[in-house]
Amino acid sequence: MNSIAFAVGENWPALGLGTWRIGESAGSRAAEIAAVRQAIALGYRVIDTAEMYGEGGAETVVGQALAQALRAGDVTRDELFIVSKVYPHNASRSGTAAACDRSRQRLGLDQIDLYLLHWRGAHPLAETVGAFEALQARGAIRHWGVSNFDADDLAELARVPGGSRCASNQVFYALSERGVEFELLPRMRTSAMPLMAYCPLAQGQLARHAGLRAIGDRLGASAAQVALAWVLAQPGVMAIPKAVRETHLRDNLAAAALVLTSDDRAELDRLFPPPAARSALAMI
Ligand SMILES: NC(=O)c1ccc[n+]([C@@H]2O[C@H](COP(=O)([O-])OP(=O)(O)OC[C@H]3O[C@@H](n4cnc5c(N)ncnc54)[C@H](OP(=O)(O)O)[C@@H]3O)[C@@H](O)[C@H]2O)c1
Repeated sequence: MNSIAFAVGENWPALGLGTWRIGESAGSRAAEIAAVRQAIALGYRVIDTAEMYGEGGAETVVGQALAQALRAGDVTRDELFIVSKVYPHNASRSGTAAACDRSRQRLGLDQIDLYLLHWRGAHPLAETVGAFEALQARGAIRHWGVSNFDADDLAELARVPGGSRCASNQVFYALSERGVEFELLPRMRTSAMPLMAYCPLAQGQLARHAGLRAIGDRLGASAAQVALAWVLAQPGVMAIPKAVRETHLRDNLAAAALVLTSDDRAELDRLFPPPAARSALAMI
């Protein structure tokens, strides 16, 4: 699988696991813990979560799966890259620290590998960055970053003290949502900041796309695998599809090895044209 180089001097697999909609109901908890545990056993090493998902429920699910996997020796802590996010309304200087402590407790981790501001809110960026830097200094997080930041937001962030140490920006990027290619992604590439693509399957919609299915039939792959392979082929981009079904977990890992030809890519450009002008950053 491709790996993505972070400017902070580390490489991580380009494919990770999303966890939105996990941890929302007690009835599905055991199955969800088993799914995340299975993902780790299959080879997933990057897991994305947030305090927002299930109001802490997803972090709890991930934490329990991690504890089981670590106890069983399926993986070691340093092989994993765990991402979580602070709610904008918690992202004050003291609120960020408190939210991070709660997230670490639910995850059962001393340290979160990458801690993101989920989207911009009312708290000044300087306060949130100050809090991130303090958390990093005391070892509670290894790196920090942002999510749903457009090019002008990143420019503003770079002017904040410490802001240039932002490790990543997580945004909506999929074949059906290519707006970031116009300005944001090229700028991020220039500063060697990886883009973490969320909703790379457009919340499952691309898995049902007839045009993608036709390309997949030629390649012996599913529509979802074609969509994922396309995102993962973009330089400087990692993707975090969410899946709980075993077939999906396996198919997504296999998609990381799927090679699209230039003809396939040209057809995908016809089906999903690249942006011709700047547009507001899409958010889900
Ligand atoms: N930063 C942000 O603001 C933000 C916003 C949205 C999402 N995210 C993150 O990005 C992750 C991914 O986004 P998402 O969950 O909204 O959408 P997504 O990953 O685009 O799609 C997930 C859906 O696709 C299905 N699926 C997964 N693999 C499949 C396959 N191979 N074939 C067919 N269907 C497949 C899943 O089904 P099953 O689950 O049933 O397997 C699920 O219903 C989230 O989970 C979250 O971690 C971040």
